[in-house]
Amino acid sequence: MDNFPNSIDLSTTIAGVYFPTCLMNASGARCVTQQDLHRLGESHAGAIVTKSMTPQERSGNPEPRYVSFPGGSINSMGLPNLGYHAYTELIPDLRVYNKPIVASIAGLKPSDFLEAVTAVNDAKPDLMEINLSCPNIPGKPQIGYDLHASEDLLLKIRDRAIPPIGVKLPPYFDPVHHEAMADMLTRVGVAFISAINSVGNGLVLDAETETVVIKPKGGFGGIGGRIIKPVALANVRAFYKLVGEHIQIIGTGGVETGQDVFEHLLCGASAVQLGTVLVNEHVEAFERLERELMDWLRKKGYSSVAECRGKLKEL
Ligand code: DHB
Repeated sequence: MDNFPNSIDLSTTIAGVYFPTCLMNASGARCVTQQDLHRLGESHAGAIVTKSMTPQERSGNPEPRYVSFPGGSINSMGLPNLGYHAYTELIPDLRVYNKPIVASIAGLKPSDFLEAVTAVNDAKPDLMEINLSCPNIPGKPQIGYDLHASEDLLLKIRDRAIPPIGVKLPPYFDPVHHEAMADMLTRVGVAFISAINSVGNGLVLDAETETVVIKPKGGFGGIGGRIIKPVALANVRAFYKLVGEHIQIIGTGGVETGQDVFEHLLCGASAVQLGTVLVNEHVEAFERLERELMDWLRKKGYSSVAECRGKLKEL
C-alpha cells in the first residue's frame, strides 16, 4: 500500500520561474490560435508555449504539411502564426491559468527576431524561447547550424529581452558541435536550452502510391516523434554534461510515454516538451503522461523531478 500516492513532486523551476509540472507543449504543437493557447491553459500542461511568432501573420506552407506515421511524424508547416502583435495581445489573458507563459520567437531574418522580442517584452511572458532551428522555410537555413550567426543574433536579443531567454536548438550529431554551441551559449549567458527541434529535412514516402507524403519542399520536412528519441536524449545529455551547472535543459523529442519523460529527466532535462504526441493525442496527453511519470518516479524511488535529474548512470 502506498500511503502517499500524490506525494511525488512533478514541479520544476526554469530560470527562477516556477512550473507546476515539468510537462509542457513543444512550440508548434497545438499552440497557434487563441483557442489552442486557452486549451493549453485549461489542461494539465505545466506551461503555455506559443507557436514561434514572426512580424507578420503567416498562413504557412501548402497542405498536406503534417503527417504522422508509425513511429513518428513529418512536418513542413512553414511557420503559420498570428504574428507577434496578436500574441502580444493574447498573452495577458493567459495569466488566469497561473502557469508560465513562454513566448517562442522566430524570424526569416535577424531584424524579425529583434522586432518581435522588443514588442513581446510588453506582454511580459515569463520566458522567451528563441527558435534557432526552423527547418521548413525554403531558402532559409537553420540558424542553429551557423555558430557565428547564432552568436551575433543572440547577443543582440540578450540586450533587448526583458525576460530570461533560452534557445530552441536543432539536433547536433557530433560532440565538437555540442562543445562549440555550449561555449557560445555560455558566453551569451542564455538561461535555458530546449533540445531538440525536429530532425530537419527528412523524407517519408508512401510506397504504395510512390509519392512523398507532404507537399512543401518536394516532401522534405522535420521529423519528430518516437524515432527521434535517441537523438533527443543524446543532445540533452551532451548539453547537460557540458553546461548543466549553469544552463538548464528542456528536453524535447520522442516523448510518448511516462518512461520517455523519465529518460529525458535522467539525461539532465529540468522539464520536458511534447510535440508529436500532443498533436496526435491532444491536450489529454498531459494527464496521461503525468500519471505515467508519477508511476515511474515512484517505482524508482524518486520523490521529485529534481531528485532524478541527470542521474543517468554510465558503464
Ligand atoms: C516550423 C517548424 C519548426 O520545427 C520550427 O522550429 C518552427 C516552425 C514550421 O514549419 O512551422
